[in-house]
Amino acid sequence: MSGPDDLHHHTSPDGPADDDPASVNPASVNPGDLAFWAKPWEERVAVFAELRRADRPVLFPEPEMPWMEAFGFQRGNGHYALVRHADVAEASRRPEVFCSSRGTIAGTLDPPPEFMEYFGSMITMDDPRHARLRRIVSRAFTARVVARITDAIDAAAVRIIEDFRPKGGGDFVAEVAGRLPLKIICDLMGVPPERHDRVFELSNLIVGSFDPEYMPDLAELGPSVIAAGEELRQMVHEIAAQRAERPADDLTSVLTHANVEGESLTDAEIGSFFILLIVAGNETTRNAIAHGLDLLTRHPGQRALWTSDFERLAPTAVEEIVRYASPVNLMRRTVTRDYELGGQWFKDGDKVLMYYCSANRDETVFDDPDTFDITRDPNPHLGFGAPGPHFCLGAHLARQEITVMFRELFRRLPDIRTTAPPERLESNFINGIKHLECAF
Ligand code: HEM
Repeated sequence: MSGPDDLHHHTSPDGPADDDPASVNPASVNPGDLAFWAKPWEERVAVFAELRRADRPVLFPEPEMPWMEAFGFQRGNGHYALVRHADVAEASRRPEVFCSSRGTIAGTLDPPPEFMEYFGSMITMDDPRHARLRRIVSRAFTARVVARITDAIDAAAVRIIEDFRPKGGGDFVAEVAGRLPLKIICDLMGVPPERHDRVFELSNLIVGSFDPEYMPDLAELGPSVIAAGEELRQMVHEIAAQRAERPADDLTSVLTHANVEGESLTDAEIGSFFILLIVAGNETTRNAIAHGLDLLTRHPGQRALWTSDFERLAPTAVEEIVRYASPVNLMRRTVTRDYELGGQWFKDGDKVLMYYCSANRDETVFDDPDTFDITRDPNPHLGFGAPGPHFCLGAHLARQEITVMFRELFRRLPDIRTTAPPERLESNFINGIKHLECAF
């Protein structure tokens, strides 16, 4: 174990010095780099297993992303990979040391201010600002509120599946998995139905901005992502202006009229929160549902088990889908002071990425972590983040959407199955499936 005296040792821009603790060579394998995420799943799983065996978190150099730098993103000294369950959990419950308000959430390069204007909401804040916003919006996402909109979620799922039925198959993501979270989050915010498809395109563009399907020319990345943010912001401003005059039963009305300790939200705060919700609500749940169908197709025994007693097994099955798929690969934190974690001394300004995908396969916490087991219990996975102030605000909603979708699929299209391997999103941040062919 190292001590504070040799801090310099672990923050060298060249990466770890002579006593590199893992046999993974940070100069050739770097999970901070997009190229790493293009590798086959098994290869990535093996790298994380190796990193978990190391005696402390490994420092990886800053990836080469010239198109991000052209847009004003700043390079630093690379990032430490937090890969063990215990390390991710500890960093998440110590926000005063591992803070969220310096840098972005999804990568290691630090963004320019104009980016943060659109994409810097509660997820990139620390207390007290974070707590204030979270208090205002959390009322909309309690288990009780989600229970109240259960009928709406049921009805939406039935409609989506029945619209798909005559087609006999096709792209499960576009036709089914992506539809439910989109409709629910847009209805919650009061976005009119004729604009839902546009919201879907814009959120794809924001989260898929490294993927050539959504961003053919990386030189356009900065301006396109900002333009998408601006369009979403305009959309919520229009809705908010209407709600200011005539409140409706939606979250935009709550946000427009919110008053916490004499303060209300600014237009800019409402705008960036809307963008966060659209992205966080859509790009995660749809991937959980798509991974779910892929997993259940590849594990027919688990599928047969679940359908034999759906309601009883739904709670553990849904948690296992989220653990196994880890729809959000990672979140970033920045260190605020000297602190020892997992055998490594950190200092002010060090960047860490918390790899949920690795914590969720930690063999010291999960028996047979690479086995997909819908009865796994307990299942203390970190797919929604670890306990702490930023734990996923939409976890109740996401669980309900996943449950309802599989209940209705098993009922209405009982033989639905994938017919090709998933077409994966090119992203370090989201474990996304862009397209998934299915038949029934
Ligand atoms: C399977 C689906 C989902 C997954 C895997 C997921 C995962 C996550 C993760 C990993 C975090 C960060 C936790 C941290 O930094 O400590 C997070 C935060 C958040 N999620 Fe989710 N999420 C999902 C669905 C949703 C939905 C449906 C919504 C909203 C409707 C939502 C809204 C949010 C928000 C607003 C935050 C930021 C909370 C804060 O900073 O206080 N998420 N989510």
